[in-house]
Amino acid sequence: MGQPQPFLQRFHGEVTARDRMQMFRHKPVTIWLTGLSGAGKSTIAFELEQQLASLGHACYVLDGDNIRHGLASDLGFDKKDRRENIRRVAHVAQLMNDAGLIVIAALISPMREDRAMARDIIGPGNFIETYLSASVDTCAGRDPKGLYAKARAGEIASFTGVSAAYEAPADPDLKIDTATQTPAESVANIFTYLRDNCLSNLACVER
Ligand code: ADX
Repeated sequence: MGQPQPFLQRFHGEVTARDRMQMFRHKPVTIWLTGLSGAGKSTIAFELEQQLASLGHACYVLDGDNIRHGLASDLGFDKKDRRENIRRVAHVAQLMNDAGLIVIAALISPMREDRAMARDIIGPGNFIETYLSASVDTCAGRDPKGLYAKARAGEIASFTGVSAAYEAPADPDLKIDTATQTPAESVANIFTYLRDNCLSNLACVER
């Protein structure tokens, strides 16, 4: 048996961002899904992850509901805690991007200022603000977790869209209308954007 061929041409020095892009065959970006509870963030995030993974792209979902069981288990839903939640997730996303992974972050992230902070932490060139747009009534109509009913009955304080603000992105990189599109259509639209900007061809990697 011969010696395994090294993937990288160099044997010394640090592994650069460009080395990682060649290894992973993509530009490591963070697709930041923002929208109301019930807008489809988690569904779309996990479906997108599955499609990327099936093509061999290393990727990972940071989902608000999951993160709040661990990394953010000490945080609630007032403005200060949401900001801290977003700050932590943004730093984790930045580290994962640095390691070469594509990150899909699914957080309500209701305030423009906080999303701007996430963009700064992750780096403007790697941050894809994706607005999953659906009205409060549409999301409340779906109410998969029964939270809108509770919020409207006054049982949950500071609930986004009911008793706390949601500031829609003024100029998102991508806007997906999840009131009219199926999750599969929404995923396909995000995928097209990624294919054109971040995946496989080295032209995107060189950018
Ligand atoms: S964020 O505002 O800090 O970005 P995040 O995305 O982590 O929120 O968590 C949102 C999830 O927490 C919702 O999908 C819902 O299941 C749950 N939740 C519990 N209380 C609230 C609340 N007051 N407002 C919004 N979501 C809540």
